[in-house]
Amino acid sequence: SRIVVANGPNLNLLGTREPGLYGSATLADVETLCTQTGQRLGLEIDFMQSNHEGALVDAIQAARGAAQGIVINPAAYTHTSVAIADALRAVELPVVEVHISNVHAREEFRKHSYVSPVAAAVIAGAGVEGYRYAIEHLASLVED
Ligand code: DQA
Repeated sequence: SRIVVANGPNLNLLGTREPGLYGSATLADVETLCTQTGQRLGLEIDFMQSNHEGALVDAIQAARGAAQGIVINPAAYTHTSVAIADALRAVELPVVEVHISNVHAREEFRKHSYVSPVAAAVIAGAGVEGYRYAIEHLASLVED
């Protein structure tokens, strides 16, 4: 099976961006973590990041028929994007939402997610290990 791992705006700066909140791992480190987790579970990982809402919508649409599940950290679009939530709904694939930080322990505006109602599971506050947990959970859903 194939899993798309999609990352939203500013996650390209991971490692240097607010390391107190997001840690020192880079996006390349996260990609390695995801690829290795995929290898262990027999899953191909398609890893992408964009700062552009439409590019994320395109990547989600492209997953239909090509992948069996989606891990997404929509970053700030979590809290703003009806378009990303609608795209996730449209493709009818299992979705796991990941946030590196615990969005519920931060500003009020981070507590609402347009994506969570579409997600099978939401992982927040586990750092970049959350991506590993997300892939492991999707693997269990894809097997069923
Ligand atoms: C984030 C949390 C969002 O609120 C924020 O806008 C991000 C990253 C996280 O991974 O903790 O860019 O999704």
